Amino acid sequence: MTGGAGFIGSHLVDALLDEGREVVVIDDLTSGDARRLPTEARFEQVDITDRAALDRVVDEARPDAVFHLGAQSSVTVSVTDPQRDCAVNVGGTLNVLEAAGRHGAPVVFTSTGGALYGNAAPIPTREDRIPAPVSPYGASKWAGEAYIRTWAEAGGLPHAVCRLGNVYGPRQSPHGEAGVVAIFTYKLESGQAPQLYGHGRPTRDYVHVSDVVAALLLASGRAGVFNVATGVETPVSRIFELLREASGRQVEPVPAPLRVGELERSCLDPSRARDELGWTARIPLEDGVRSTYRALVSEFATAAGDG
Ligand SMILES: NC(=O)c1ccc[n+]([C@@H]2O[C@H](COP(=O)([O-])OP(=O)(O)OC[C@H]3O[C@@H](n4cnc5c(N)ncnc54)[C@H](O)[C@@H]3O)[C@@H](O)[C@H]2O)c1
Repeated sequence: MTGGAGFIGSHLVDALLDEGREVVVIDDLTSGDARRLPTEARFEQVDITDRAALDRVVDEARPDAVFHLGAQSSVTVSVTDPQRDCAVNVGGTLNVLEAAGRHGAPVVFTSTGGALYGNAAPIPTREDRIPAPVSPYGASKWAGEAYIRTWAEAGGLPHAVCRLGNVYGPRQSPHGEAGVVAIFTYKLESGQAPQLYGHGRPTRDYVHVSDVVAALLLASGRAGVFNVATGVETPVSRIFELLREASGRQVEPVPAPLRVGELERSCLDPSRARDELGWTARIPLEDGVRSTYRALVSEFATAAGDG
């Protein structure tokens, strides 16, 4: 697996180990943290753009399935350094595809629903909508998808693309640009007022990381493109309200204009994943946000103790 030291990847590692699978994690730790990894997983600190190093690890591991989550995952970095974004998300994806192909291993690629469909897409958006990305990150993920599909056709391997909604859950970093559940939790816990961009009105499709992991496992060995989301549109102000309730603190948010490149609305139609993979998101938003709040607060306390 690539990106296994990241937020979503580390949960997938746990699930694969629970299934009794052997797991080899490839991650360069750009945004990941090796402390998230249990000792049962083998960890190789490798940059997927370094083809020779990647090939060495993959050829030794001889995988029967590959989960490719390793990515330049920041929209902001994609704007400031589009070359690096392209090198990792397009070139790195091609390297992973070629290495997996030598072992006949199907690849599951995590793409984005939120950054791909653009502002004019009907809500909820289906997979057959032609992408109109508004950032280099959206463009590089779309290009990565194209390689996945082309290599699936050419090599006869059932590679899958999962277009994720806004994923939240334990272990999400509060210091990234996205991940409002983690960011708001951190702010509330440290008594700071979070900014509500777009005055809290923009909507997103929030999906719990454990539901995402279940979808990725089901997608392995299944060719196609699948939205992995709830189909429910939630304003960001609602996320803040839920977290403020969970915290019991009377913090008032600071309204702020929508940031450049951010969408007003985003919500994905998950019916194809339901019909073809038998997957649906199971964790209701209210439960997921409350339990994530508790988990993150305890993680922050542990991190503060360590630091
Ligand atoms: N979190 C979300 O809401 C969301 C939504 C849509 C898509 N995705 C996609 O899901 C995947 C996982 O996202 P995440 O939220 O866990 O992000 P993350 O940043 O926590 O994980 C990405 C991992 O990839 C690693 N990585 C980065 N560049 C690398 C390179 N050159 N070589 C090897 N490893 C490299 C990072 O160190 C990190 O561990 C990514 O592909 C991301 O684009 C995430």
